[in-house]
Amino acid sequence: MYSVLKPIIFLFSPEQAHRITMWCLDFVVSFGVGRRFLQYFFGYSHPRLQHEVMGVIFPNPVGLAAGFDKDAKHVVGLSALGFGFIEVGTVTPVPQIGSPQPRLFRLPADEALINRMGFNNEGLDALVGRLKTLRDTKPSSTLIIGGNIGKNKDTPNDKAVDDYAKCFIALFPWVDYFVVNVSSPNTPNLRALQEKEPLTHLLKHLQSLNVSHTKHKPILLKIAPDLTQEQLDDIADIVTETKLSGIIATNTTISRAHLNTSLTQIESIGAGGLSGKPLHLRSVEVVHYMRHKLGKEAVIIGVGGIDSAETAQQMMDAGANLIQLYTGFIYRGPILVKQILAKIS
Ligand code: FNR
Repeated sequence: MYSVLKPIIFLFSPEQAHRITMWCLDFVVSFGVGRRFLQYFFGYSHPRLQHEVMGVIFPNPVGLAAGFDKDAKHVVGLSALGFGFIEVGTVTPVPQIGSPQPRLFRLPADEALINRMGFNNEGLDALVGRLKTLRDTKPSSTLIIGGNIGKNKDTPNDKAVDDYAKCFIALFPWVDYFVVNVSSPNTPNLRALQEKEPLTHLLKHLQSLNVSHTKHKPILLKIAPDLTQEQLDDIADIVTETKLSGIIATNTTISRAHLNTSLTQIESIGAGGLSGKPLHLRSVEVVHYMRHKLGKEAVIIGVGGIDSAETAQQMMDAGANLIQLYTGFIYRGPILVKQILAKIS
């Protein structure tokens, strides 16, 4: 069915297409029968799929990656499509409009996307409000929500800790795990926070807030695929030193290597993070390396170019406990979740 709809959806700009498809999804799930139909058609459950990871019970190991539903506007509809968990955000304390449009581009010849969204989001208060409503209206929901947190563009790096802390404190009651995003290529200088000293300081501070609660929440660090081996080694040390639950590997890449899309088109698109098929090998490599460095206790969520049951399996074989989708979901449609679950169950 998606092969019929995709050419029509792709007639619209990527952001328009996102808005239209999410509007349709919300419309369908606003009727109980619509939601049940989607769950019946796209859902897949099997006792073997349930995973307890970081003390959290995930109904299945396939999640929706950050950036797709930044403001938690479509959580009910997206969960009806079979995802075991949804990561909302990246959220920043104050709302941001993000980069000027156009800022999201399809590369169909590579089944990839380039984005420079720039953390467009409605801000922390709006996100907390929506998650609270969700919890109040669906108190017994088993859906797992991750909160991906960032800093505002105008916040200098030496004040970044305050932004992350604000997000952490406000979201604490409403999410099941946290992700510290210091790896987006689209906020100037953000990736400098991946350096040893600022990163240790940031994570130690978040952990000090975490331990002030009787029940701690898992904190993961989302890393870039463009880090060198030494930087990955440093990250592994910091994750261990700050007692983080683990990492998410990887965010989008700034590399433009091995693409089928013409150089002229790539140049005309300009800066941004590349996601999808061309990212897959590198993400798997990073997951594999970090599993070796971190040992078997740490949690790794693998993300990057997963677009089939085979690529999902490769990510899990490399050492991922859980996986996430974004670009593959755009190119392959919602049936991808079920295809993966059927294969790995
Ligand atoms: C993203 N991604 C992302 N990641 C993140 O931590 N915070 C964010 O706000 C966003 N925003 C975002 C927007 C868009 C349009 C895309 C395509 C991606 C990165 C995403 O979560 C994922 O890590 C990468 O896209 C790699 O996975 P895929 O897309 O290759 O499956």
